[in-house]
Amino acid sequence: MLRHLALIMDGNGRWAKQRLKPRIFGHKEGAKKLREITEFCAKSGIQYLSLYAFSTENWKRPKAEVEYLMNLLGEYLIREKTTYLRSNIIFKSIGDISALSEELQQKIQSLEAQTQEQCNGMTQILALNYGAKDELRRAFVRLMEGGIAPNEPNQLSEQDISCALDTSKIPEVDMLVRTGGEMRLSNFLLWQSAYAELFFTQTLWPSFSVEELEAMMVEFHQRERRFGGL
Ligand code: FPP
Repeated sequence: MLRHLALIMDGNGRWAKQRLKPRIFGHKEGAKKLREITEFCAKSGIQYLSLYAFSTENWKRPKAEVEYLMNLLGEYLIREKTTYLRSNIIFKSIGDISALSEELQQKIQSLEAQTQEQCNGMTQILALNYGAKDELRRAFVRLMEGGIAPNEPNQLSEQDISCALDTSKIPEVDMLVRTGGEMRLSNFLLWQSAYAELFFTQTLWPSFSVEELEAMMVEFHQRERRFGGL
């Protein structure tokens, strides 16, 4: 069953370069694609859709590009509110959003609260200032602060760790798709993707299509998932 789909949206910059446009043009088109794919997933019965929008490593990009992405995010959170409400989508962010501006944090929290109150369909999870290693580090800090089994460290269970992650209560990733031709996970949902089926495509994110995703879903259902068993 495909409950949780994760997407690494890669290739915006190259898509723009191929068209002799600045990289930010690719991000703008990428945001449009994000909405199209989200709406399709909400209709197709997927319960959780996770998207890698900004990683803990993306701060290394030129200041102007980072600023553009932050502004794009701010506009996106306002503009797409109607999409979320119309398509019954719950919005959730993962990652350390305390590093984002106060204004962005407020927009994120307001959209989370409003969609949680009014919607009960698919949950769209936007990874913002997210890195799986950082998420694990923050989870361990939480566990240590919470005093989980301080005298019996060996009693710490995998379940305890899962519950301390940003994705607590969200099922593990079933299918992970990366566009843009690279074949790596780039610090995205490493714990949650332990048994995810991986799909890589050369297609650059703004050119990715519902049809290509549908074809991958067909293949996903044909794969035999044994989870280490026989
Ligand atoms: C990777 O492409 C993409 C990103 C780092 C940003 C993802 C952002 C979007 C899809 C736009 C929507 C975003 C928000 C904030 C709503 P790249 O720039 O690494 O492309 P390249 O590998 O071709 O250089």
